[in-house]
Amino acid sequence: MVKLIAGNWKMHGTSADLGEVRAIAARAGELGGRVEVALCVPATLIHRAAEAVPGFTIGAQDMHANEKGAHTGDLCASMLHDAGAGIVIVGHSERREAHGEADADVKAKAEAGLRAGLKVILCVGESLAEREAGRAVATVAAQVDASLPQGPVDGARFSLAYEPIWAIGTGRVAGCEDIEEMHAAIRARLVAAYGEAGRGVRILYGGSVKPGNAAEIFATPEVGGALVGGASLTAADFLPIVEAGA
Ligand code: G3P
Repeated sequence: MVKLIAGNWKMHGTSADLGEVRAIAARAGELGGRVEVALCVPATLIHRAAEAVPGFTIGAQDMHANEKGAHTGDLCASMLHDAGAGIVIVGHSERREAHGEADADVKAKAEAGLRAGLKVILCVGESLAEREAGRAVATVAAQVDASLPQGPVDGARFSLAYEPIWAIGTGRVAGCEDIEEMHAAIRARLVAAYGEAGRGVRILYGGSVKPGNAAEIFATPEVGGALVGGASLTAADFLPIVEAGA
């Protein structure tokens, strides 16, 4: 299965950074079908970035589950699509924590994103306290069960991202054995939910993925790509990760 390497720029990036977008898209284009690459930029940059790199996938980092309405400050899937987004992240732990998003909200967003024609990356992950209490797998499995969109799903359009919260932006990476154990548990939940089609859903790893650790992470069974934060902000950091996945 071709790996999906997605950058999550979080609250970083203005039009001054379009050069990085162009450089990343150009190399991704050269790598052709060997790897799938996307950049989820701030909403304010989606339109300009998508216009700057036709044919390359620009994405969003969140969306509202409704199609329209009185939701000041929110954006729905069709607006993101209209702006040029081809993919959206839902359920990132920073949204779950800072905006009180529950599994049911994440599920509704995933379903609305897929309905609107966007690809969707749905994030799950445990806290340090949950891991230290020996509840990491149970926590993530429960999140997956409660967040998955109603099937059938198409593995080309829907991916899961396992992001242990304690590994995000900390420089701490989950050990490959822990990643393998968690991805196997997630795969089992996907198959339980979608049958054989669940095997076609890529499971990305996210949490301090860097040029120096990407190859080892990608060699881990059931790792179908990466969701990269800090190291996706520049072509110099992101492209070695993309190439490791190609
Ligand atoms: O969504 C990506 C993310 O949360 C990981 O961030 O900076 O640890 O790669 P980072």
